[in-house]
Amino acid sequence: MKRLLSLVLVVALVLSCAVLFTACGDKDVAKNEQSDNGAVENEQSEKKDNAVFKMGTNAAFPPYEYKEGEEFKGIDVEIATAIAKELGGKLEIVDMEFDSIITSVQKGEVDFGIAGMTVTDERKEEVDFTSSYATGVQVVIVPEGSDIATLDDLEGKKIGVQLGTTGDIYAKDDYGEDHVVSYSKGADAVIALKGGDVQAVIIDNEPAKAFVAENEGLKILETEYAIEDYAIAVAKDNSELLDDINDALEKLTEDGTIDEIIAKYIKAE
Ligand code: ARG
Repeated sequence: MKRLLSLVLVVALVLSCAVLFTACGDKDVAKNEQSDNGAVENEQSEKKDNAVFKMGTNAAFPPYEYKEGEEFKGIDVEIATAIAKELGGKLEIVDMEFDSIITSVQKGEVDFGIAGMTVTDERKEEVDFTSSYATGVQVVIVPEGSDIATLDDLEGKKIGVQLGTTGDIYAKDDYGEDHVVSYSKGADAVIALKGGDVQAVIIDNEPAKAFVAENEGLKILETEYAIEDYAIAVAKDNSELLDDINDALEKLTEDGTIDEIIAKYIKAE
């Protein structure tokens, strides 16, 4: 009898261990699938009522995204919040270096990237872009009294840019790698300009205006360097999310939400 009892006990123990083990194992598999594949995560999260959409950005780009204390603010932050709401979920912001955003989208670490990001043919090979929600212009910031008045005057000068941005890419193409210094933030390029380490900064017009307003003795050249479209980056295998975001963008454009958000941050001249 005793023997039988211990046999039953052993069997029960083995069984419960097996159940526990598979349960844990399953969870691990699910977790891996989620982190390896953004698409799986989205499919699952969209079915939940309070899905969380992770937005990858670089919050050093006013007025599109910036931090006030611990709070994230800006046009992209508000547009992404409105999109997440349209899709029945909440927004989580993942702040990172600008040149990490595309990889992070590709790996599914974030669901989408929104960062005043310009649509380019090269980037289109890596991610899909939603329809455009804003226009950006690359401009040139110089110190007041600078002898740089036109784009041609930039020849042979040292130009500061933010690493991995279109300003960085175009400036290296046009003026040569040796003449371009890439900083991790646009604001650092502006500090370098004030310190005389570079003679000009190429950056998007709205952040340029914000940086010039914050720093005395700088001005923006009238000549525009490049005109571009901003859009949201989504992983290539995630056409479902791409369509959902495009639908949301269309609705938010039609009902005036996008214009309202932009007008809140960019005052008409
Ligand atoms: N529009 C430029 C680009 O796409 C600069 C964007 C920088 N954005 C940022 N959040 N730092 O390359």
